[in-house]
Amino acid sequence: PNSDVLWDGDHFVNGILFPNHVLREEKYKKVLDFPLQSDDTFVTSYPKSGTIWTVGQVKLIKEKVQELSGSITGDTVPLSKMHLADSASWPEEDGKEFGMAIPYPRTLGSHMPYPMVPGGEPHKSPAKYIYVMRNPKDVFISSHHYYYVVIERKHKIKFDDYFEMFVNEKPLYGSWFDHVLQWWEHRDASNILIVRFEEMKKDLHKSIRTISQFMGHNLDEPTINAIAEECTFDKMKANPLLNLDTSRFGKKYKKDYSHMRKGVIGDWKNHLSPEQTARFDAVYHKKMDGSGLDFGI
Ligand code: A3P
Repeated sequence: PNSDVLWDGDHFVNGILFPNHVLREEKYKKVLDFPLQSDDTFVTSYPKSGTIWTVGQVKLIKEKVQELSGSITGDTVPLSKMHLADSASWPEEDGKEFGMAIPYPRTLGSHMPYPMVPGGEPHKSPAKYIYVMRNPKDVFISSHHYYYVVIERKHKIKFDDYFEMFVNEKPLYGSWFDHVLQWWEHRDASNILIVRFEEMKKDLHKSIRTISQFMGHNLDEPTINAIAEECTFDKMKANPLLNLDTSRFGKKYKKDYSHMRKGVIGDWKNHLSPEQTARFDAVYHKKMDGSGLDFGI
């Protein structure tokens, strides 16, 4: 680990760099045995892969099921009346007690690498996990923007420096490659569903159907259409309950901040130089070839 990057509360847990809002190592250890049950739904990802988009879909699915069948989906306050930031718990940020106090069945989130997910290794847990993946070049662009442009950090790291951290597998939250490969290894576990940003962009309706079936709900077509309508980029961006213009801790971000920045495939082409692209591709192939995963790189 390079101590030059220990800025603004960044810190290491198990040798991986995390931002200030993730629990420090001692406290973090306590969430490793976070109690889970079979009606818990986790949305997990490497940050900037489309997590909040997916949380939005999960929450709306639960809301519709509750509305249509009267069964309790845990969301006592419907999403249409509460801020998305308040509607899921992140044990690695909130700690154990907070996550245990929210209404069951719970919606939970985690960006931790597979072996460090709160509650223990997902394939051994009773909970359900929806892991979101996205082309790593777009993840890189989105995360540089988020950590170093949007979030108010005293020390702004330059684009080229963050590029080096990313391809050297030392950015915040650790190596993208390892994160994705570790989840991918467990893709056949019956309680793990892998979804992809690019597929949600291509066919949001299909993604909502897949996610709802995985959660055990068979929704009719008009209901799925209604959810898809709410979850388009423009709709989410325009909805103050969904666009996360406030942080989960109630802090108002800069007034020009929106969690929905561009929401497109391939924005990296506007930012990476040909030389950076070639270096990225080389690392990508070294790490990913033979995994069976294809991001068109
Ligand atoms: P960009 O920065 O490329 O625009 P996460 O929630 O994991 O932090 O991911 C954030 C990324 O998902 C951002 O990418 C954001 O714009 C995109 N996103 C959020 N909601 C979306 C939606 N409804 N449709 C498409 N992209 C969305």
